[in-house]
Amino acid sequence: MATQTKTIMKNKLAILGGKPTLKTLNTYKSISKLEVKEVNEVLKSGKISCFYGSWEEGFLGGEKIQELEAMWSKRFEVKYSVSVNSNTSGLYAAMGAIGISPGDEVLVPSTSMSATAMAPLIYGAIPIFVDIDKDTFCMNIEDVKKKITKKTKAILTVNLFGHPARLKELKDLTKKKNLFLIEDNAQGPLATEGGRYAGTIGDIGIFSLNYHKHIHSGEGGICVTNDKNLAERMQMIRNHAEAVVGPSKTRDLTNMVGFNFRMTEISAAIAIQQLKQIDQHVNRRVDLAENLSTNLNNLPGIEVPKVRKNCKHVYYVWALKYDKNKLGISRKRFVDALNHQGFPCFEAYLSPLYNLPVFKNKIAFGSKGYPFNLSKRNLYIDKCNVAEDLHKEKFICFEPCAYEIDEKKCKLLVEAFKKVYDNIHQLDEA
Ligand SMILES: Cc1ncc(COP(=O)(O)O)c(C=O)c1O
Repeated sequence: MATQTKTIMKNKLAILGGKPTLKTLNTYKSISKLEVKEVNEVLKSGKISCFYGSWEEGFLGGEKIQELEAMWSKRFEVKYSVSVNSNTSGLYAAMGAIGISPGDEVLVPSTSMSATAMAPLIYGAIPIFVDIDKDTFCMNIEDVKKKITKKTKAILTVNLFGHPARLKELKDLTKKKNLFLIEDNAQGPLATEGGRYAGTIGDIGIFSLNYHKHIHSGEGGICVTNDKNLAERMQMIRNHAEAVVGPSKTRDLTNMVGFNFRMTEISAAIAIQQLKQIDQHVNRRVDLAENLSTNLNNLPGIEVPKVRKNCKHVYYVWALKYDKNKLGISRKRFVDALNHQGFPCFEAYLSPLYNLPVFKNKIAFGSKGYPFNLSKRNLYIDKCNVAEDLHKEKFICFEPCAYEIDEKKCKLLVEAFKKVYDNIHQLDEA
C-alpha cells in the first residue's frame, strides 16, 4: 500500500500538487566580456555615432558600422549589407527602395509579427494576406499564385520560426511575373535552402538584431541585397534622403522622403562581436531543438516540427502541433500542465494579422480609410484556414532563444514533457 501511494505521488503532475521536473530556466545571456570590451572602446573614443545626413564622409556611417556591414556581407555571401536600427526599419527601407506606391498590393503571410504587414502600409500600399503551409508555417505557394493580381508589386515572405519559405520557387515566380521578392528573415539567421542562406535569395532580405533573436545588439537590423541600386536607395532612406541633392546624382526620387534608421556605433560594435560567434549562438539552439524533436517524436497527438528537404531550420521557435481530438484534453490545460512541470511554452503564436484592428476596421492614415479606400477589392473578408486552425487549435510554441539550456536541462525538459504526456488522464477536466 505504501509503495502504491509513493508511485501515485511520484506520477502526480505539478499542476495538481506534484513535484515539478525543473525549476525556472535562466534567461540566455549572449553578451560576453568581448562585447563589453568593444563597447567600452567605442565609449572611450567618444564616437558613438558618426552618421551625417549630407553627402560627405559619414553619410554611410562610422568605422564600426562599415566594419559590421562588410563582415555581414562576407558571412552571408552577399554584395551589400545596409545596417538599420531595427528589422522594422529595414522592412520600411526595403519597401521604399523597390518603389512601392499607393494602391499597390503586396502579398504577405497571414502569420507573422505585425511589422511584416505594416511595412507596405507606410507607403500607402495594401497588404494581401496569404495562407501558410500546414507543415512549415511559411507562405503557401498555391495561395500565393491565386492572390497575385495586376496590382501586385511584391511578395514579402517570412522565414517563420527560422524555417525557410519556398524561396527558390517564390523567386522563380516573382521573376516570371516581374515582381520583387523581399524576405523578412528576422527569425532565420543561418537558415538555408539548397545550401543558400535564407535572406539572400530574394531581392532584399532583412535580419533582426533585437534582444530576442539568435544574435542581437539590443535593437538593430541588417538589409542585404546583391543589387547596387537597391542598396543605395536603402542607404538614402535610412539617412534622411537629403543627400539626393548634390553630388549623389540621384535621379529616381520615388519614396525618397527619408527616415532616420541609423544604427549607433555602440550597437554595431556589439553586433560585430555577436556575428563573430554566430555559429555557436545559432547551432546551440538548433542542437537543443533537434534533441527535443528526436526525443518527443512518435507521440500520438503531438507532431514535432518538420524540416523540408534541403533546408536548415534554425528554430527561433520550436512549434508543435497538438491534436485535441486524439488527446482528449484541451490545449490550454495541456500547456498549463507543461508550464507547471517546468517546460516553458505558450499556446499559440500571433493571431492571423488580418485580425489586427488596422485591417479589421480598414483605418490606417486619416479617418477616410486610406490606403484601403484605394482598393476595389472586398478586403480581409476571407479567412486563411490553416493559419486560423494552427492559431486556435494546434500550435504549442517553445522559444529556444530565450533560455540557458545545457544537455542536462534538455534531458529534464524531455522528462517534464513526457511526464505530462504519459499522465495526461490526470488532466481530465471532468
Ligand atoms: C518575423 C518578424 N518580422 C519583424 C520583426 C520586427 O523586428 P524588430 O524588432 O527588429 O523590428 C520581428 C520581431 O520579432 C519578427 O519576428
